[in-house]
Amino acid sequence: MGYSKNPKCEIVAIASRTAEHARAVSERFNIPNVYVGGDNWKNLLDKEELDIVSICTPNYLHAPIVLKAIENDCNILCEKPIAISREELSQIEEKLKNKNIIFFTSFQKRYNPIFKLLKDIIENDALGKIISLRYYFSHYGPYKSWKAVSEEKWFFDSQKAGGGVLLDLGVHCIDIMRYLIGEYDIVNGINYNTSCLKMTAEDNCNVLFRFKNNALGFITTSWCNEPLETIDIFGTKGYIKLDLTNKNFVSYGPRKLKKNEYLQSLIDYKPSGDIAQYVLADHFIECIKKKTQENPNFEDGKRAVEFVLDAYSLKE
Ligand SMILES: NC(=O)c1ccc[n+]([C@@H]2O[C@H](COP(=O)([O-])OP(=O)(O)OC[C@H]3O[C@@H](n4cnc5c(N)ncnc54)[C@H](OP(=O)(O)O)[C@@H]3O)[C@@H](O)[C@H]2O)c1
Repeated sequence: MGYSKNPKCEIVAIASRTAEHARAVSERFNIPNVYVGGDNWKNLLDKEELDIVSICTPNYLHAPIVLKAIENDCNILCEKPIAISREELSQIEEKLKNKNIIFFTSFQKRYNPIFKLLKDIIENDALGKIISLRYYFSHYGPYKSWKAVSEEKWFFDSQKAGGGVLLDLGVHCIDIMRYLIGEYDIVNGINYNTSCLKMTAEDNCNVLFRFKNNALGFITTSWCNEPLETIDIFGTKGYIKLDLTNKNFVSYGPRKLKKNEYLQSLIDYKPSGDIAQYVLADHFIECIKKKTQENPNFEDGKRAVEFVLDAYSLKE
């Protein structure tokens, strides 16, 4: 959708397993070339002259398509998680070496201006030294919270999804937390259960970790609850709690923080209505035209997957 709205962009081809799905999308967005079938994305990549490949298939196909796109010198926008194993991450990293490919990971939350306002507050020391951060992210899970395109419930198949709710939602949380205060250092613990969905991986998950600057991190993700997204940041001079679900409601303390101009900008913020996914796609296209690699890049995608795999390694 983002590409079709961008006048600098022409969608030339689409691949899908199911003819009916491919036809519906090609008619809707006026896409001339259609490749149908499980492996036909390979032919698409070989036959078409492409500047960009946008990968929004089930998770297990991300790395294979990324690897082939790199071979064919295409710039890449890949959905999260960009891979489901360390081997895949290494293969991609190796292949990207000595290539001038612009690689974006689809962490569109970074394009929600509210996080830039939060970052300004932190960087301008309004909260003092950051001691700890908590991110809570939930909804009712795939197939309930939105209607998936493919009929197969691949999100609940560990082989195809690579994990459960932590891999799906947790990657967004860790990416925003890294954006706000820097690199994570170590994952200390995980607990999880499977309480509401028929699946083997987790549908609820908590992860406890530490950042390189010594701040403490805590992420809770759930596919078994009302849609809710909150972030709490505690520093030596005060705290902020932001409820993104509830019209970006901000609470803070102590009261004197109200005088801080950066906090005031956050409180006064009114969303523009721009859809972060489209803003990300537009920015990606700009970066290709300017030949500049910006964020969220491959490293951001990789660190988010590594975070989840670090946490999963503690499951055993
Ligand atoms: N950034 C975000 O916030 C965000 C939000 C939602 C989803 N995502 C990510 O986007 C990806 C897709 O999720 P979704 O909810 O859109 O899943 P979905 O509704 O099941 O869609 C999967 C798509 O992949 C196609 N597909 C499956 N196998 C294929 C193959 N072998 N060749 C070509 N196309 C194939 C499907 O079409 P056919 O069934 O016709 O093959 C369908 O169009 C996931 O990685 C998910 O994590 C990210």
